[in-house]
Amino acid sequence: MEDSQIKTRQRVADHGEVYTAEKEVKAMCDLVKDETERIESRFLEPACGNGNFLAEILKRKLEIVKSRYSNSPYEYEKYSVIAVSSMYGVDILEDNIIECRQRLFNIWEEQYKKILKDYANEDCIKSVKYIFNKNILCGDALTMLQNNGLPIIFAEWSFIKDNLVKRKDYALNELLDGGGQLTIENITWEYDEEINAYIPPAVKEYPLTDYKKVYEYE
Ligand SMILES: C[S@@+](CC[C@H](N)C(=O)[O-])C[C@H]1O[C@@H](n2cnc3c(N)ncnc32)[C@H](O)[C@@H]1O
Repeated sequence: MEDSQIKTRQRVADHGEVYTAEKEVKAMCDLVKDETERIESRFLEPACGNGNFLAEILKRKLEIVKSRYSNSPYEYEKYSVIAVSSMYGVDILEDNIIECRQRLFNIWEEQYKKILKDYANEDCIKSVKYIFNKNILCGDALTMLQNNGLPIIFAEWSFIKDNLVKRKDYALNELLDGGGQLTIENITWEYDEEINAYIPPAVKEYPLTDYKKVYEYE
């Protein structure tokens, strides 16, 4: 084990915090290589630490976006945001979450500015920061509660048409229930053919909005 895999012995004892080494991260991501290279494929890491797996997956997705769209700044921007919006993480320690969000944002921003050059814009940068703040959350993946006791709520970002995105928020405990609560009273649960499971009603829906303006809604 390398020193960089551990912050303190106390954290190992309290939270089992031992970060995965890069070589193993890559090897494990290779097991689902096709999915890591599908731009819109959603990933949730329920004990994400400072984001070793999420960072590797985001890099792979952005490489695909670059290879397909680097000649078209507008397309690059949109697909890079789709990649960002598909990454989800939870960790019980606040400092891990802050580090993870910043790390993922830096990966996205560095390539975005390199490719977009003068087309890079503050609205998009603000939206990407906002999406990471909504998708990478501090909480307990076992109780599915945030540290403030409220349920962990994740936003689903669906790119509908052109630049328009539909945000729907879901409670993680209901999502993972997979239809277990589906009774006569719960007929609002819908079958989703893409994921082959029942999905609960959203706890909140937002108006269709330009992906560069998602930060305007709360
Ligand atoms: C073995 S580390 C793995 C970190 C990261 N996934 C990696 O591979 O580098 C386990 C992580 O789980 C977090 N953790 C421990 N208990 C948790 C819980 N109940 N809910 C969410 N995260 C938890 C710890 O803070 C730590 O960051």
